[in-house]
Amino acid sequence: MKPKNQTLQTQVVIIGGGPAGLLLSQILMKADITTIVLESRSRTYVQNRIRAGVIEHGSMELLCNANVGERLLKEGSKHSGILISYENKAFRINLSSAKGKSVYVYGQTEITVDLYQAQEKIGATIIHNVKNVLIQDINTKKPHVKFEILGQKYHINCDYIAGCDGSKGISKDFIPKEKLNFHHTLYPYSWLGILSKTKPVHKELIYASHQRGFALASMRNENLSRYYIQVSNSEKISEWPDEKIWNELTKRLPTRFSSIIETGSSIEKSLTTLRSIVVEPMQWGRLFLAGDAAHIMPPTGAKGLNLAFSDVYYLSSSLINFYKTGSSKKLELYSEQALSRVWQTVRFSHWMTSLLHAPEGNNTIARKFQLLELEEIFTSLTAQRALAEGYVGVQY
Ligand code: APR
Ligand code: PHB
Repeated sequence: MKPKNQTLQTQVVIIGGGPAGLLLSQILMKADITTIVLESRSRTYVQNRIRAGVIEHGSMELLCNANVGERLLKEGSKHSGILISYENKAFRINLSSAKGKSVYVYGQTEITVDLYQAQEKIGATIIHNVKNVLIQDINTKKPHVKFEILGQKYHINCDYIAGCDGSKGISKDFIPKEKLNFHHTLYPYSWLGILSKTKPVHKELIYASHQRGFALASMRNENLSRYYIQVSNSEKISEWPDEKIWNELTKRLPTRFSSIIETGSSIEKSLTTLRSIVVEPMQWGRLFLAGDAAHIMPPTGAKGLNLAFSDVYYLSSSLINFYKTGSSKKLELYSEQALSRVWQTVRFSHWMTSLLHAPEGNNTIARKFQLLELEEIFTSLTAQRALAEGYVGVQY
């Protein structure tokens, strides 16, 4: 006999239990709005994904207000500057020049762990290993979501649906094709990343522009370094043993850093193709997109997670406003409001990427333009402040 469909009820169904979905659930639950989070993977899988680690001031405040900032403030490190290098020179951008703001270095992996713990504490319903998620009737006042676990079918009646299911999710597919603008650019290079239990080469991040290719020296803590180098899209991780990565990295950093860098075995390696994607609109009927489900940008500037959180800020305040007042006016403005910050941020990431990455081929004109612009930033406080403002993030 076939098992009967199970029916559940909640106010907001959140598809995707990554940082965007979990933070949204946390903020809504704190405001006494009920949620169910549907996640296609296991908790262990989600908690172990290694991603970027720079948290904007605004993201830190949002996490603290949601009772998820305690460990970030204790174990994360506050950075009030970054280094930019080119032609063996390095100069510092004072991030505090941007209205006194700083950023925090704290891994996204840790944020996900903190979010799961906070959700557990508040009694959230997070359903893992779901399959065949389907969104229905989003243009009515009674939308619902169907899904399956181990052959058992479920049906959730709800008021609203948040699509927080990342770049490979299904939520955006429920916006009619003819109404959806999918903006997409693929860059001609990728980032090869290495995580190693070594002391970071410098106490602040170094973004290095070099004719051999871009390099980034980042960190997770005092004994854990994260480095990236620009490689072409045809490269394979298997062709990059640790020694080859260290060798290439040291060629791209100024000698005052490459001469003291501590090398060691990698504990993780990754290869990421750089792309920019923006999905418009971010709302259709009672479905709202947030995070990577609606946008992707190159990691230069570490904006992905922060932009996901600013979407969550706009969406959560609009939903809270709806449940307080009964008016959906703010919700109707969500897509426009979120997209304004999305476009500014995607543009900043694109600008920083184009400024620092070696152009493909031996394009000496493009390289000369980059060096001129870097020199201009090096000598102009106004240009440094503009970079600092973009880096610490647009106010929301
Ligand atoms: N059903 C349920 N869950 C799904 C589905 C689906 N059909 N498809 C994907 N998911 C889950 C993924 O397994 C993942 O855990 O949705 C989650 C989306 O999480 P992320 O990809 O981490 O995206 P998001 O929460 O928007 O986080 C923003 O910032 O630094 C960037 O890309 C980085 O993850 C980061 C992001
Ligand atoms: C990281 O530490 O992983 C990181 C830092 C800064 C970036 C991108 C990634 O711009």
